[in-house]
This record gives sequence, C-alpha cells and structure tokens, in this order.
Amino acid sequence: MPPLKDFSSVSPSAKSLLMMKGYTNIPYAKQTAALMHGDEVFGLNFEDKDFWFWIRVMHFESRYWSIDQLLQQTDSKNILELSSGFSFRGLDLCDKDAGMHYIDTDLPEVVALKQDMIGQLQLDKDVRGNFELLPLNAMDAAAFDQVMNRFSGPVTIVNEGLLMYLNLEEKKQLCHTIHRTLKQRGGCWITADVYVQRSAEMMATLPKSESEKAFTEQHHIEENKFESYDAARRFFKEQGFEVVQEAEPNYKDLSVMPQLLKVLPEEMRNSKQPPPKIQATWMLRAV
Ligand SMILES: C[S@@+](CC[C@H](N)C(=O)[O-])C[C@H]1O[C@@H](n2cnc3c(N)ncnc32)[C@H](O)[C@@H]1O
Repeated sequence: MPPLKDFSSVSPSAKSLLMMKGYTNIPYAKQTAALMHGDEVFGLNFEDKDFWFWIRVMHFESRYWSIDQLLQQTDSKNILELSSGFSFRGLDLCDKDAGMHYIDTDLPEVVALKQDMIGQLQLDKDVRGNFELLPLNAMDAAAFDQVMNRFSGPVTIVNEGLLMYLNLEEKKQLCHTIHRTLKQRGGCWITADVYVQRSAEMMATLPKSESEKAFTEQHHIEENKFESYDAARRFFKEQGFEVVQEAEPNYKDLSVMPQLLKVLPEEMRNSKQPPPKIQATWMLRAV
C-alpha cells in the first residue's frame, strides 16, 4: 500500500468556516466560533463585513442546512460524517434523539481541538444519543472500515467541504470505499461537494485575498471541482452511484438574510432571481 498523503494543510479552512458560521444560527456555531482567535487562512475581513462577506456566510449556512434537509428524508439513526471540521451537527442530532448513533470524524489535530472545545463549553452534557468524535483520514480505507464497524445496520455517510481537496484519483478511491460499504450494509451518501468550476467572469468578480489565492492554488481547488453538473452525475454513475435526490436551497429562511439584505446592491434588491448556482447537495445510492 502506498503511504497515505498528508491532508493536514487543508485543516485551517475549517477554522475560517467556523468563524463565518459564527454569524448564523447553525447549532453551536456562535459559542464555538467565539473560542477561535488569531488569523485564518482565507484572510476574511471581519472588520468591514461587505456584500461578499455575507454572500459567503450565506453559502456556507445554506450548505449546512442542505445536508440536514436530505438527512431528514432518510430517517437514519446511524450517521458517519467525514471531514466534519468544526461543525457540530452530530452533537445537535444526538441532543435531540436518544436513538441516534453519530460518528463525527476529521483528521487527528482537528478532532483533538474540537474535543477540547466541547470540553471547555461542556457541549456534550445533555447528549442523549451515542455521539462519538474520532480521528479518521477518509482516504484510509482500513481505518474507514474500523470506524464503520462501530455501527450495526445501514449507515448514512455525510460530508461537506472535502471533495474539492481530492484529485480525480483520490475522489475515485473515496467513492470506491463508500460504495463498497453501502453495498455491504445499505444506506446512502449525502454529499454537499458537487461544486462546478467557475466561469472566468465569476472568477474575476469574486474578490480574494492573497492568502486565499495561495490556499486555493496550493490545493488545486478549481481543478478538483466538476466541469458541470452533468459531468458530476456521469462521474458518480461511473463509480456506481445513482443520484436519488438534490437538496432545494431555501434562501429566504437563512439566519444570515437580514445582514445580507442590508448590504445588497440596489440592482439585486429588486431581482427575483436566486443567487447563481455554484454547488449542489446530492443524495447518492450505491447501485
Ligand atoms: C473546508 S473544511 C470543512 C469542514 C466542515 N465540513 C465544514 O463544512 O465546516 C475541510 C475539512 O476537511 C478535513 N480533511 C481534509 N482532508 C481530509 C481527509 N483526507 N480525511 C478527513 N478529513 C479531511 C480538514 O481537516 C477540514 O476540517
């Protein structure tokens, strides 16, 4: 077996995401974001929160809820989250449901920090379900199987913010691991990582700090996205998956909306158009 690639340079992005989600009503985001200090890798401007700042918060808030929307349709009590970063969906679901078994995973350093945050804020004091926070490199198929064996019965696998850090071969490998698992035990895969490459015009409009440009280039994020939604569908089909459902964004109910509306340029204010689609969240089934 070739040695596993080190993905730890991706982890700082989880801090940036949490700092943005701290401005939303995503469970536990406010209090955990308050524990984050110092620089973050996207060079976000928290002083002067302009339209682009709130648009991004909107995107990540919407992406978060898109997974919950599809999860609700599965009624699943066994959930494995890959590359969860500083997201606390698992704790939230285990707070609400004593029958839930949620295994929340990310790379070891992220998991250690997250465990520390949970301890500091005593976030797990009311947990009724079985919440486990474990280190897992999603590309390590043997470790993946070990984590999976902690469940009995069908499992729903969820992730957001991982596939754009994997090249084509790595995406195929992960699909293979997930496909094998779902075929064996049943369940489905909900991924919010169906991102399509941006047009040159879109790239030119979106402001990016130097540190974000460097991060994006270092991790080949644009190249790792899909060429189109059709190409993504074809890719998953070739890996043995069928798209069962796509989440429907519900922009008007997002907690970030009042902030975004305050800074919305006049021409957009009167538009009935939703924001341009840059990503989709799909429920996939292994066929
Ligand atoms: C952009 S963050 C997303 C975090 C979280 N899902 C969210 O949306 O807030 C990317 C996360 O992927 C994790 N990651 C990157 N490569 C990974 C791998 N091979 N296995 C598991 N986690 C990985 C990083 O540690 C980081 O937490």
